[in-house]
Amino acid sequence: PKVVLAYSGGLDTSVILKWLCEKGFDVIAFCADVGQHHEDFEAVKAKAVSCGAIKCVVTDLRSDFVSNYIFEALKCNAIYEGRYLLGTSVARPCIAKEMVRIAHEEGAMYVAHGATGKGNDQVRFEMCAQALDAKIRTIAPWRDAEFIESFKGRSDLLAYCTKHGIPVDAKPKSNYSIDENLFHTSYESGVLEDAGATYDEDMFKMTVSPKAAPDASTFVDIEFVKGVPVKITNKTDGTVKTDPLELFMYANEIAGANAIGRIDIVENRFVGIKSRGVYETPGGTLLRDAHMDLEGICMDREVKRITEGMSTEFARLCYNGFWFAPEMDLIRNSVDFSQKDVTGVVSLELYKGNVICRGRTSPFSLYSPDLASMDIEGGGEAFDYNPSDAAGFIRINAVRLKTYAALRAKQGDN
Ligand code: ARG
Ligand code: SIN
Repeated sequence: PKVVLAYSGGLDTSVILKWLCEKGFDVIAFCADVGQHHEDFEAVKAKAVSCGAIKCVVTDLRSDFVSNYIFEALKCNAIYEGRYLLGTSVARPCIAKEMVRIAHEEGAMYVAHGATGKGNDQVRFEMCAQALDAKIRTIAPWRDAEFIESFKGRSDLLAYCTKHGIPVDAKPKSNYSIDENLFHTSYESGVLEDAGATYDEDMFKMTVSPKAAPDASTFVDIEFVKGVPVKITNKTDGTVKTDPLELFMYANEIAGANAIGRIDIVENRFVGIKSRGVYETPGGTLLRDAHMDLEGICMDREVKRITEGMSTEFARLCYNGFWFAPEMDLIRNSVDFSQKDVTGVVSLELYKGNVICRGRTSPFSLYSPDLASMDIEGGGEAFDYNPSDAAGFIRINAVRLKTYAALRAKQGDN
């Protein structure tokens, strides 16, 4: 039988590849290009074939990833547990979709991955695969009793490589598990498992330390149309990018150079385990901040309140692997509707880890300087705003508060 294996070229998936061959599978290695930094895909292909793959497919998913996943997340300001911009979570459905497409193209009944049995990624890959093809079967060696028994630690994996002539990277294994894509780089496990211990700042790949960032600010304008970034202009050196992929890569470059987007958190995995993760999401942090700022001027208060709830829900669904769920479709469609007037330009200053808004404009602005002004009485005839009405507004809103306070007093609570 044929199996499509999500292959990275690393130690684990190389061993898995060979192990699947030994089990009698025809293995099609699949490597998703989601913008890993400095990945040599020709070398990955060669390695897959040397491990016994009947072929290795590398798909450049970068534009798809940016336009249909990253921008979807940024459009609703998605953030998990108030901190994490979902850099890995949002890549999984993109990769899984291509994996299933290749399985169909190759006539494979099986897909396989190297995610562990303790994490989120297994859930995401498999939930996405099942949503896209009810018949597809998954092989997850890290949950397979026989596989686990054979490979109890790194030394078993290395011994297997030696036995089967699988080349092992000369560079020593890094001190943590890294997941890289265009949106972010994540670092977990290894020396990071001690949640109280700090780490070496040298590990970061996309961002410099605030201490190493330039002493002069970088000024940029970011233009959005219906909640999607369409143009970035560096006002300091005149660079302009409009192609979605180029725009996003450029956002990474300038935000990274200004030390923007690093976090160190303990988050809650869907499987119930707490996990310490360190992330750098430079361009995403910049664009999300800019987008929220534009919403401030273009979006109605109650629409904002409701979409904030959708944002939380989007993050939860994305994190938990429910990208292809009906409730996710509902949210994404609703968010699109909410963005119909989120068009305009945000001016920002980037400085030593900070994204500082310096102004925003929109052709669909709801902001009225006359209404907001402390110097102007009322807001013009169109609004009929009469400050003396506010006294009644406050009194009526306070009715509940007075009722509640009276009850508390009667109960002797205060
Ligand atoms: N904790 C993050 C998440 O669940 C990052 C996972 C990183 N994955 C990995 N295979 N290293 O989205
Ligand atoms: C893994 O367990 O394979 C990586 C971490 C995660 O998926 O949460």
